[in-house]
Parts: sequence; C-alpha cells; structure tokens
Amino acid sequence: MSSTRTYETYYLRTFGCQMNEHDSERIAGLLAGMGLRPVDGPQRGDVLVYNTCSIREKADTRLTGHLGEARRLKAEDRRRLVIVAGCLAQSRQEGFFQQFPFVDVLVGPQSLHELPLLIEERLETGRHAGSFQRRTTVWSADLPRVRRTGPSAWVQIMTGCSNYCTYCIVPHVRGPEASRPAADIAREVRELAAAGVREVTLLGQNVNAYGREPGFAGAEDFPALLEALADVSGIERIRFMTSHPKDVSPRLLEAMAELAPVCEHLHLPLQSGSDRILAAMRRRYDRATYLDLVGRLRSRLPGLALTTDIIVGFPSETEADFADTLSLLEEVGHDGAFTFIYSPRRGTKAASLPGQLPREVTEERLARLVALAQRLATDRNQKLVGTVEEILVEGRSKNDSSMVKGRTRTHKTVNVPGDFPPGELVQVLIRSASSTSLVGVAVP
Ligand code: 5AD
Ligand code: SF4
Repeated sequence: MSSTRTYETYYLRTFGCQMNEHDSERIAGLLAGMGLRPVDGPQRGDVLVYNTCSIREKADTRLTGHLGEARRLKAEDRRRLVIVAGCLAQSRQEGFFQQFPFVDVLVGPQSLHELPLLIEERLETGRHAGSFQRRTTVWSADLPRVRRTGPSAWVQIMTGCSNYCTYCIVPHVRGPEASRPAADIAREVRELAAAGVREVTLLGQNVNAYGREPGFAGAEDFPALLEALADVSGIERIRFMTSHPKDVSPRLLEAMAELAPVCEHLHLPLQSGSDRILAAMRRRYDRATYLDLVGRLRSRLPGLALTTDIIVGFPSETEADFADTLSLLEEVGHDGAFTFIYSPRRGTKAASLPGQLPREVTEERLARLVALAQRLATDRNQKLVGTVEEILVEGRSKNDSSMVKGRTRTHKTVNVPGDFPPGELVQVLIRSASSTSLVGVAVP
C-alpha cells in the first residue's frame, strides 16, 4: 500500500474481555498485511492502536490516560497515526473525534475488516475516518490473524447479543446475535489442530444461542457444533464461554457428558441472587431456576467446575437483596467469581433507573462479596488436594522458573516443578491449593 510506505511499526494495546483480545489478533493480522511490524512500547510505534472496551466505566478511564500519552507522542511526530478500535469507538462514534481530535481513525468491532481502507482514506483525504457497522458483513474470525503462540487458541463462533440485560451495553455496541457458519468454524479448528493447537475456547457473548437467530442458514445448534468439533483429531480440549443460564439446555448437558474433549467447566454468570434484582436486570431466570440448573449439571457432570459473574450495587439493590446474592453464592459454592460494581452505561435501561447507589455502599458490599468468593474458591480447590489432575502445560510459571504452569480440565491453574514443554498433557498429584491456584507434582 503506497500511502503507508513510510509507516513501519505499530503498537497495539487491548482493553477488556477475551473477545477483544481475539479481535486484537485480527487487527494485528491486518496491520501485518500492510507491512507493519509490532513494537512493545508506544514511543516506538508509527501507528498506535487502542482496542477498547465499554462494558464498565473503569475501562473508559484507563483509556483516557493512554490517549493522553498518544496525544503527546503525536505532538512529537505529527506523522503518527492514532487509531481507536472496538466497543468504545462504536458507542461514541463521531462524538469521539470531537472529544479527541488527534485520533485519526475509529473502527467498531463489526467493521474491523475495513481498517486498512480507513487508514488509506485518512492518509488520502486528511479527514477523520470511521466505520461503525451494526452487523458483521465480513467475519473478523475469517480475517488474517497474528495469534498468541501456545497450545490454546480462541475461536469465535458468534458475534453480538440479543438479550438486552438492562445494565449491559454489549447488544448496543456489538449488535444482535449472529452465528458463524459451522463449516467455517470446523475449518478453522482443523487448521489450528494442524498447527499444533490442542485446546480451543469457543467464544461468543451467549454461545448457547448459537445457530438460533432467525435467518441463520445452518441447521446446527450449539450441542451439534460441539459434536462436530469433538471429532477434530489433535484437539484434546474444547471450552466455551459465555453461557447464559436461561439457555443451558438438556442437550448441552448430554453433549458435555458424552463428548470426551469437552471440558468439565461452565462459566455461568449469576449477576445477582435476588429475584427482584434479577427481574430488574431482565435476566429471565430466578434463584430457584439457577439452583435447579446447578443441581442438574452437578448430578450429570461430576467434578464440574462452575465460575460466575456477579454485579453488586445494581440500582435499588437493598442490603436484603445483597444478602440473597451472598447466600446463593454460598449455596452453590462456585469455583470462582468475577465481581463487578455496577457501572451505569450510556443508552442502557438501567442507567436511568432510580436508586443509583453511592460508592461507599457498593465498595463495602464488593469487599464482602470478594471475601466470600475467595473463601468458596479456596474450599473448592482444597477438595482437589490428594487427587490426580491432568494439566495442559502452557509454559514456565511466572514467579518460579523451576516450575511450569498449566491448567486442569476444570480451568484451574496448577504449578508443577519440572521442565515440560508447552502443549504436553501431564498427570499431576495436587499437593496444595489457594483461592487462585494449585501446586502439585508430576506422576507417571
Ligand atoms: N456494570 C458492571 N458490570 C457489568 N457487566 C456487564 N455490564 C456491566 C455493568 N454495566 C459484567 C457482567 C457480565 C460481565 C462480562 O461484565 O457481570 O457478565
Ligand atoms: Fe450483556 Fe446480558 Fe448479553 Fe451478557 S447476555 S452480553 S450481560 S446483554
């Protein structure tokens, strides 16, 4: 591309969820296709790309700091290009250029494939360039990709979400649910397996709705997709996230029980344990239904690990509502919980509800929630002490180079002394456990 000839390097920073990390692999692939190479500090980048998240306000605030740095760097070298991609670009659209005029290009998550064209347009016209499609026309999953190396890979199976939980901005920025054709997914998984990948994580905001949107041409539902992928040789483990509790079907339970590569782990966001708050969140299940589902899952899938997401401080949440969340969490005994303070998001229904809670209240509740979640995770992990678990080795441990780090099928991190190569499956006797990880020794 002639107009980018003077650009040689790019710096890419990702905020937010795994879906965004995965989109960044595609952004990197597109930039590599333009002849750019990655650098690990913004000072050395000719093109600075920020792949943003808008799910909570904290992500916005962090981005503002990074953009301040980008503005300074651009003042030093006016040739530099600043690109903001992802959900925040999509939610703010043109207004973002007014707030940050030094930003050159904005590109929403459904428009990533247009990035090279937008860069070209910016260079040729000198005007801001942006694209904010509401529906995917080109699957970002089909774009070239620069993948993180290792034995595990993400595979996108759907985009968007049609649930409109009242607090959530995702349906507004990522559009309605759309499923990727099963044949394309299977092809990608086969290619990954051929390249040495042993574990795939299927990604979507609500994977259990796979194949169900009106107009989807394929006949497959999510369990059928799992069945097709379980046959791909070389793939030892299949994971998926996220599952909405209202959409976990008996067929999914059967698929998880019957298909050997499908791992014994389910990320099942609860959000709240109060029926009143669940209704106000428009989650479409209640306490009793969640508990019933957990009971059925555990009786069909022994050893299943359950993780969850919880929001504290949804508008009008009382101490009694919050106590319901604590008691439900305790009753289930989750293996891990991601905990969030409610953050009002522009354009969502909950943002205009009365009863927004003060920070002191939500922070105090969060502290109690985190303490409980840690105790429950420790209890669950302690139960594994003395058992033998299969781990997939990911690489060296961060804190101790005499150990390797891997994960159990239930997605728990295990550190093991020794020198096993990434991608190897090792049987490990678990010796000790904390709330976040396990330590064990390899057994023959
Ligand atoms: N405020 C706080 N947490 C939120 N989440 C989504 N929207 C919000 C919000 N407005 C959380 C939910 C979801 C996870 C990905 O992020 O718990 O499951
Ligand atoms: Fe957001 Fe609800 Fe969709 Fe999850 S299911 S992405 S919380 S709207």
